[in-house]
Amino acid sequence: EAKWKLFGVHDDLKLSFNAIQVLKERYLIKNEEGEVQETPKAMMKRVALAVAEADRFYGQDVNESFEKFYQLLTSLEFLPNSPTLMNAGTSLGQLSACFVLPVEDSIEGIFNTLRDMAIIHKSGGGTGFNFSMLRPKGDQVSSTGGRASGPVSFMRIFDTATDVVKQGGRRRGANMGILRFNHPDIREFIRAKNQAGFLENFNLSVAITDEEMKRVHQGEKIDLVDPHLQKAVSTVNARELFDLIVESAWKSGEPGLIFLDEINRNNPTPSLGLLEATNPCGEVPLLPYESCNLGSINLSKMSTDGKIDYQKLQRVVFDAVHFLDNIIDINRYPLPIVEKMVKANRKIGLGVMGFADLLCQLGISYYSDQALQIAEQLITFIANEAKLASKELAEQRDVFPNYPKSLHAAKNLPFRNATLISIAPTGTISLIAGCSSGIEPYFALIYRRFVLENTELIEINPLLEKQLKVLKIEEKIRKSIWEKGSLKDIDGIPEHLHSLFLTALEIPPTFQVQIQAVFQKQVDNAVSKTINLPNDATPEDVGQAYFLAHQLGCKGITVYRYQSRESQVLYLGTGE
Ligand code: CDP
Repeated sequence: EAKWKLFGVHDDLKLSFNAIQVLKERYLIKNEEGEVQETPKAMMKRVALAVAEADRFYGQDVNESFEKFYQLLTSLEFLPNSPTLMNAGTSLGQLSACFVLPVEDSIEGIFNTLRDMAIIHKSGGGTGFNFSMLRPKGDQVSSTGGRASGPVSFMRIFDTATDVVKQGGRRRGANMGILRFNHPDIREFIRAKNQAGFLENFNLSVAITDEEMKRVHQGEKIDLVDPHLQKAVSTVNARELFDLIVESAWKSGEPGLIFLDEINRNNPTPSLGLLEATNPCGEVPLLPYESCNLGSINLSKMSTDGKIDYQKLQRVVFDAVHFLDNIIDINRYPLPIVEKMVKANRKIGLGVMGFADLLCQLGISYYSDQALQIAEQLITFIANEAKLASKELAEQRDVFPNYPKSLHAAKNLPFRNATLISIAPTGTISLIAGCSSGIEPYFALIYRRFVLENTELIEINPLLEKQLKVLKIEEKIRKSIWEKGSLKDIDGIPEHLHSLFLTALEIPPTFQVQIQAVFQKQVDNAVSKTINLPNDATPEDVGQAYFLAHQLGCKGITVYRYQSRESQVLYLGTGE
């Protein structure tokens, strides 16, 4: 058996080479000699057993839940975020991917947060911060009479600490750094990642309000306000500042935007404070010290004979909500204050992956009105079923403790969880499940990976592989697909096949924003999506995507122009 020989892992779940390799390196339990101690199935059993344990607190049937969860995981119909797969049932036991920490304008405050970040990263979590409270560069520091270094300098310390502290020794932590549009240091922040090697462990986002977006549209002025002195220090043209953001995003993909008002219109607990930051990839706005655990339904397993199997989907949603709610009770929290916050709101983030695969199975092109309709039907169904599931849990286990203070109480909707839905990037778990990531279109139809020094693995999109066989596409044509990574301009490929297997760069950015927006409408947290643009896209294209995202009610936006950075995660095809 090839995978056994190559990796020394018994592949009892029929996973891909890449999946086995990643599992072996970072997920499967190893002994002190570094030898793998569990199979993929045993990993799922470890996770299902640990998570089912929570049922005992409520006098519910642990065995029954174990069977349900074990089936859910081994069928790859649903996978939780990486920390759960890695840490459930181990002594570390930290199961959440997403945290937000506050940053106060004092040396004590900043370094306390730095310490908290290191502890969270060590446990496997990622962190988001809003640095807007920090006084700008050059402001006076009262205790010494010296000058402040400003938010961007402090972010460098967070970045360096992130480099040094690996997540549970298995991956490097990720961060989100946010600054308000009207902070005096905003220009330095916008340009911060234009230099290679700078803030590499951060995603950057500018937090902007509706009023500011209006001024951008109208080319009006805004005041830049010193948060410490609480007064305006200069006035700038909002459009010019916005253009700087767009130009920088065109150059390097950053910063993205976070739409503060839209986020707070959907804050379930406004009396507990404003939502001012998100986790690293943007899919969960959280209060300071809140954390959220995620899980994603594999949509590529949710259709039969070219139709969505809604009955199956309903069962998976109910089991997944139960699973994610259980995690809150068995999680080992990295900080006591996080435990207190999480147990009071019990936020969870159920999402999807494999959306592009599902469309393909249904015979629908990602770039079509039908795709928008399917997206809407699907996410509306999932969100509604998740609410029913959370309501059922509330009947069995009570509502979340802050419920009386929440907007759900005002609407008389007794839920177990303050939030339910969130669309994560699913970077690694989609690879493990062997499906397309999140709600993204295919980036490439072929991936090349090097393993074990000189073994090259080429993975063709499995659905395409099948079609090529059915249509008896000849070897010569297959070779050109390998080289290009897409079906664009390849002779001998029927048009309908090409439209089913469009890659991200063949889909207009504005359409990608529309897909994001359709999902966002039903998602109470947020949606992580990268709007991919071809290399020859203009800054105007980026600006247009940013405006559209705001107009359509997205909570934020991230873009990436192909090859705008020296190195990137994914490349198209094998041709050099
Ligand atoms: O697929 P996986 O569960 O590994 O993660 P993802 O869906 O790609 O990312 C979900 C969240 O995990 C991110 O938004 C981060 O909060 C966190 N993350 C992290 O902390 N460090 C990483 N290297 C990757 C993700």
